[in-house]
Amino acid sequence: MQRSRGREAREFTSRADAHRSAPRERAHGGKHQMDTLFESHLKSLPLLFRGKVRDIYDAGQYLLLVASDRLSAFDVVLPTPIPEKGRILTELSLFWFDRMKDVVPNHVVSTDVSPYIRDAAERAQVEGRTVVCRKAEPLKIETIVRGYIAGTGWKDYQRDGTICGIKLPAGLRESDKLPEPIFTPSTKAPRGQHDENITFEQAAKIVGPSLAQQVRELSLKVYVLAAQYAETRGIIICDTKFEWGLLDGKLILIDELLTPDSSRFWPRDNWQPGRTPPSFDKQPVRDYLESIGFNKKPPAPELPPQVVRQTTERYREALVRLRGH
Ligand SMILES: Nc1ncnc2c1ncn2[C@@H]1O[C@H](COP(=O)(O)OP(=O)(O)OP(=O)(O)O)[C@@H](O)[C@H]1O
Ligand SMILES: [Mg+2]
Repeated sequence: MQRSRGREAREFTSRADAHRSAPRERAHGGKHQMDTLFESHLKSLPLLFRGKVRDIYDAGQYLLLVASDRLSAFDVVLPTPIPEKGRILTELSLFWFDRMKDVVPNHVVSTDVSPYIRDAAERAQVEGRTVVCRKAEPLKIETIVRGYIAGTGWKDYQRDGTICGIKLPAGLRESDKLPEPIFTPSTKAPRGQHDENITFEQAAKIVGPSLAQQVRELSLKVYVLAAQYAETRGIIICDTKFEWGLLDGKLILIDELLTPDSSRFWPRDNWQPGRTPPSFDKQPVRDYLESIGFNKKPPAPELPPQVVRQTTERYREALVRLRGH
């Protein structure tokens, strides 16, 4: 999981080369539709903003959330798109939103964009990677649940034995399973700044005690159910991040749910406390960038085709393992 999410990415459109805006590669046929979208360009609807991964359009009553094939590593959006990534994230989120719908309501309205995009070519650009969703007022915190200790949680623990103010047992190793899942909220940093881990009390100050309690309870519930299920599919959900919105005063889940971008998925067979298992998704990218000594500052270099292919395969494997097809 990307734990530090600068908001600067929303403005990278101007930095992206124009040629990337067109689908680069189209190889239809076979099981997988292999089109690639670095950036969507719809004339039918006003663009509200571009996130690091999603382009958000205003469809009147609703929003169109278009998942592109952009990938960020070390908090930098890479210039090379990962074919299928946006489709995979969309399909996996839909799978989880549906699976959890009795536990918690979500923002999904439909995947049919035809009422909002009349032009067939424009529709083809975004179909399969777009969710029509309810417009919610996003909460100003993100909620993370950790079942295992890794990433910033591991760093914080090494410093003083706590994560987000929660005291943990002594002697934990990196990647260890926690005695029980913990709720570790973070700020939603303004553009250009990094999210920060905060205590429950700080979260309660930001959103109010009642909402803070509700999101804690729901986040833990969803994590536990998802982690139990994922185990049966050979995947450990180390941790995951939720985003919440208010709709008519009621809490709903928004954005994406339990994807390799919002979670750390580990292959169960490769888990061993004391070291970091290879992450399910971006490992080939991270390995490559480390191997060429990337300084983790924009602009990032292009990725070689083999790294791109391996990355698509890992995202796809996460989807297939979890969803079953
Ligand atoms: N139903 C919704 N209503 C209002 N805003 C939403 C809804 N669903 C998602 N969003 C917002 O749309 C944006 C999606 O963009 P994207 O997934 O690229 O994220 P980001 O903000 O750049 O980074 P990250 O997800 O890593 O924090 C987020 O800012 C999210 O809060
Ligand atoms: Mg997001």
